[in-house]
Amino acid sequence: MTDERRKIMRVLSGETLSPPPLWLMRQAGRYLPEYRETRAKAGSFLDLCYTPDHAVEVTLQPIRRYGFDAAILFSDILVIPDALKRNVRFTEGHGPEMDPIDEAGILALKPDGVIAHLAPVMETVRRLRQGLPLETTLLGFCGAPWTVATYMIAGHGTPDQAPARLFAYRHPKAFEHLLMLLADISADYLVAQIDAGADAVQIFDSWAGVLGEKEFEAYAVKPVARMIASVKTQRPHARIIAFAKGAGYQLKTYRQKTGADAIGLDWSVPLAFARDLQQEGPVQGNLDPMRVVAGGKALEDGIDDILQQLGNGPLIFNLGHGITPQADPANVAALVERVRGWRG
Ligand code: CP3
Repeated sequence: MTDERRKIMRVLSGETLSPPPLWLMRQAGRYLPEYRETRAKAGSFLDLCYTPDHAVEVTLQPIRRYGFDAAILFSDILVIPDALKRNVRFTEGHGPEMDPIDEAGILALKPDGVIAHLAPVMETVRRLRQGLPLETTLLGFCGAPWTVATYMIAGHGTPDQAPARLFAYRHPKAFEHLLMLLADISADYLVAQIDAGADAVQIFDSWAGVLGEKEFEAYAVKPVARMIASVKTQRPHARIIAFAKGAGYQLKTYRQKTGADAIGLDWSVPLAFARDLQQEGPVQGNLDPMRVVAGGKALEDGIDDILQQLGNGPLIFNLGHGITPQADPANVAALVERVRGWRG
């Protein structure tokens, strides 16, 4: 009933809306002064994620400023390893860190208690659904098993995910076990978010682009397909966006193989290819976040190309990856105005 007012839900069901609805990946974050203010009050980054008062506040900040069509729950994909007791920490200037896991550590992982540990996140979702305008879609999310595993194996972010790729060649059984365990926990976590009030969920596979052909199938497609099947078996009406960054040509079959309702596109996906993908269902993306930093003509041209090429089919306008801290909030306002002013 309320879904009719939530434009992103309509696009996720296959409708074309003109202008397309929009939200931005990482729309709550350091480019906003009000985020930096709440962040300074909250203590550690994980405290921010686990304190519903603060997490609700930062989720709502970009909605108040820009009126995006979706709010995305403020949290992080690394709350799953945190709940698995991997000692996750976010130290200023270091990015995320945790204890690196080995074969024995993987076999000793205990999934019980993960959802209970994440209860504050579900409380945030409940409060958000109550506090958001009826027309705003509330998105939950989690990381895809491959992307989360890359951090668990290395213990930190790496430019090319070499530690996880190497581990997978050396210890294929333990690696498969890790991915399947993450898939099952993450599916239950998404179901818990949906039950708490999330309208739809996004799965972030930010590091899908470093995988070879067979590895993409085994580590990006298979676990995500397992997650989506589990979520849809448990909650048949769930809507799911899958974002496999850098997947390139592999996107051709990604929707069909994973069962995702919509697929996210990074900015390297050619718009002609994106149109082909859109023939099979909704797409989301794919503006280069650097165009938002650049502003002016670079921003306008990038927006116009996407709208012209993809605006006459089911599209959720978004960036091709998260907005960066150096983006000027005024450029985001210009982006919203331009997308909203488009008449296809
Ligand atoms: O607004 C939103 O999109 C919701 C919040 C959100 C965050 N992280 C907040 C965050 C979401 C959806 C994520 C997902 C996430 N986290 C991903 C997948 C998407 C992507 O961007 O590829 C990944 C790989 C992570 C892991 C992670 N968390 C990294 C690599 C970092 C450090 C990056 C940095 O810029 O320092 C984080 C920290 C993080 N997560 C921040 C935010 C706003 C910045 C931390 C801070 O405020 O100090």
